[in-house]
Amino acid sequence: MPAPGETSDVASLEMVLMGMGNPLLDIAAVVDEDFLDRYGVKLNNAILAEEKHIPMYKELAELPGVKFIAGGATQNAIRVAQWMLQVPGATSYMGCIGKDEFGQEMIKACAADGVNVHYMEDEEHPTGTCAVLVSGGERSLIANLSAANCYKSKHLLEPENWFVAEKAKFYYIAGFFLTVSPETVIILAKHALEKKKTFMMNLAAPFICEFFTKPLLEALFYCDYIFGNETEASTFARVQGWETEDLEEIAVKMSQLPLAEGKKERVVVITHGGEPTLVAHGGKVTLHPVKPIAKSDIIDTNGAGDSFVGGFLSQLVQGKGIEDCIKAANHAANVVIQHSSCTYPPKPSFVDC
Ligand SMILES: Nc1ncnc2c1ncn2[C@@H]1O[C@H](COP(=O)(O)OP(=O)(O)OP(=O)(O)O)[C@@H](O)[C@H]1O
Ligand SMILES: *[C@@H]1O[C@H](CO)[C@@H](O)[C@H](O)[C@H]1NC(C)=O
Ligand SMILES: *[C@@H]1O[C@H](CO)[C@@H](O)[C@H](O)[C@H]1NC(C)=O
Repeated sequence: MPAPGETSDVASLEMVLMGMGNPLLDIAAVVDEDFLDRYGVKLNNAILAEEKHIPMYKELAELPGVKFIAGGATQNAIRVAQWMLQVPGATSYMGCIGKDEFGQEMIKACAADGVNVHYMEDEEHPTGTCAVLVSGGERSLIANLSAANCYKSKHLLEPENWFVAEKAKFYYIAGFFLTVSPETVIILAKHALEKKKTFMMNLAAPFICEFFTKPLLEALFYCDYIFGNETEASTFARVQGWETEDLEEIAVKMSQLPLAEGKKERVVVITHGGEPTLVAHGGKVTLHPVKPIAKSDIIDTNGAGDSFVGGFLSQLVQGKGIEDCIKAANHAANVVIQHSSCTYPPKPSFVDC
């Protein structure tokens, strides 16, 4: 039962949450140390593909047990939010795919989940791929953006797409999209500011904090919520020249970065694997414990961060408080970690009360 003042109105959730990002087809397989060494890949990292990685995709696609799954950080988070909400069409997603079979697969996967997708389609490049190398319950991501790299703001501004943007009340964009179209990010951020809607981003990866600092800071200026994990937060702090390695202090400092006039306050949420999640706002930090998972139950942590955000957003868009958002976030991450890549059972078992 919704508490007084809370909404149970399903119609009000129509297209409430919108995400933008790099739609990628994940090519996931378990690999051995030799494979990692040959391609010079470190576990637990997320990078963009280079010349030396070109032959890796073919080799990966031929490994036994390889899986092809719709991926991309923001798309994962939006799909998980949609799954938690179970209200068809509550979420929307935009990004650029190619005119190919992989692109069509992705459209089908999102439609099956109930996400309202509005992809731009690029004529010249294939749908982007992301190699997901799984080893000992850990993973490494190597993305070849291809078509995803071709997203242009003119797509967002087309009337049928802008309609979706205007209808949304919450926006989420993982930092990875800053390598593609920072201009689009700012258009949406300014719209959110003007209409007093909620704008949210994720630090996404250490390389975003390190090499895309300028567009990142420009976008964070508009953020009501910033998500990230411990590694990203400490990289961010180092690049900013903050002389501290204390995660709580970093989270507070991040919440106090300049904020666009008209916004109330910024909330920073930092995940820390199996350690408690940090939430900073109003100059203070609260710690939120995570439900332990036995090592033997961890299939792979790929998608843990994305699904955490998806769970969080599923409650935020219903007007729930931080405590409820974190509970749902940890629940979603807990489920996804016990499945391969960012996948989950047909129905969520989360009971919000
Ligand atoms: N070892 C663990 N035990 C229990 N829960 C975990 C564990 N690792 C991650 N989680 C859950 O997943 C959430 C996000 O984890 P983490 O901080 O590892 O994200 P991440 O590093 O961004 O993940 P990703 O691998 O997707 O990049 C945690 O807050 C927690 O809910
Ligand atoms: C990325 O994909 C494109 C298109 O398939 C391909 O031409 C290119 O070689 C790939 N790059 C890497 C580094 O894998
Ligand atoms: C945080 O995510 C990044 C990828 O963005 C990864 O390299 C790093 O290992 C993660 N940190 C933890 C503690 O899981």
